[in-house]
Amino acid sequence: MAVRAPATNLRALIHEPRADGPMRGGNLPPPLQDRYGGDLAVQLRGDRPTIAVNFVSTLDGVVSYGTPEATGGGEISGFFEPDRFVMGLLRSLSDAVLIGAGTLRAGAGEAWTPQFIHPDSAAEYGALRASLRLAANPTTVVVTGSGEIDLDRPGLADPEVPVLIVTSDHAAPRLHDVRSHVAVVTAGTDAVEPLALVARLAERGFGLVLCEGGPHLFGELLAAALVDELFLTIAPQIAGRGKDSSRLALVEGVGFDVEGAKWGTLIGLRQAAHHLFVRYRF
Ligand SMILES: NC(=O)c1ccc[n+]([C@@H]2O[C@H](COP(=O)([O-])OP(=O)(O)OC[C@H]3O[C@@H](n4cnc5c(N)ncnc54)[C@H](OP(=O)(O)O)[C@@H]3O)[C@@H](O)[C@H]2O)c1
Repeated sequence: MAVRAPATNLRALIHEPRADGPMRGGNLPPPLQDRYGGDLAVQLRGDRPTIAVNFVSTLDGVVSYGTPEATGGGEISGFFEPDRFVMGLLRSLSDAVLIGAGTLRAGAGEAWTPQFIHPDSAAEYGALRASLRLAANPTTVVVTGSGEIDLDRPGLADPEVPVLIVTSDHAAPRLHDVRSHVAVVTAGTDAVEPLALVARLAERGFGLVLCEGGPHLFGELLAAALVDELFLTIAPQIAGRGKDSSRLALVEGVGFDVEGAKWGTLIGLRQAAHHLFVRYRF
């Protein structure tokens, strides 16, 4: 099943244009530059945090097998080492990693830090964050409408990793006993409003927020025109979706009509073995 590959450098097939104006990143230090196959900069907006999204999907757009044994992106990429490296690199440029509660619940032991996803690059990621004057770890931001969040679970319990829970007025009272590294804010009455969510992220001074999904949260951000960039790894496998499949596609919960479909501009393309790493601006 899995394509457990050794460390492989990415090869740029299309080089991104240099970002205009304020940006995060730029020239990467040599070991990261070699691995990524070039430099990486993300343009920062002036009006709100830039939202970059990172996913891995199969050739047919499946992002989760949706079974207890195979729920996350690992089975989708084949636990592909270069994909994990890119996830860590994107995390290391970001002020915060944003996920929905569905992704939190699926990621049993996961932590949303650069060093968790690619431990071998921990020192390089840490040095990059320090050179960019970023906090030691990005804040883990979790969106929940139910407030059913286990704050003792790995990924949220480490006092070195700040956590921001964004919820509704309705659910906020369920989130009590928070530790000092955890903050709870509201962004809507019964559900989280995407625009209010981004306002809460802006209030924290975040310039670049990396959304790692899942497909429901991604769909809501797309529908609200809040997605600036998509870094999508395409894994060379086809999963299919049976009639009663619980498999999830890249976007769930919203559909766009022909006129409203979201079209992107290809700004980067890289390759490692048979995986493609596409970067689109929206
Ligand atoms: N292949 C990949 O790259 C990749 C990336 C990410 C995730 N995944 C996989 O995708 C699956 C999870 O998918 P998902 O779409 O269910 O995850 P999700 O979007 O992360 O989580 C959905 C949950 O987030 C909360 N939420 C989202 N929008 C909200 C809003 N506007 N207001 C209030 N709450 C909101 C709700 O939590 P409550 O239930 O608490 O109300 C909702 O049930 C997992 O298997 C995960 O591993 C794969």
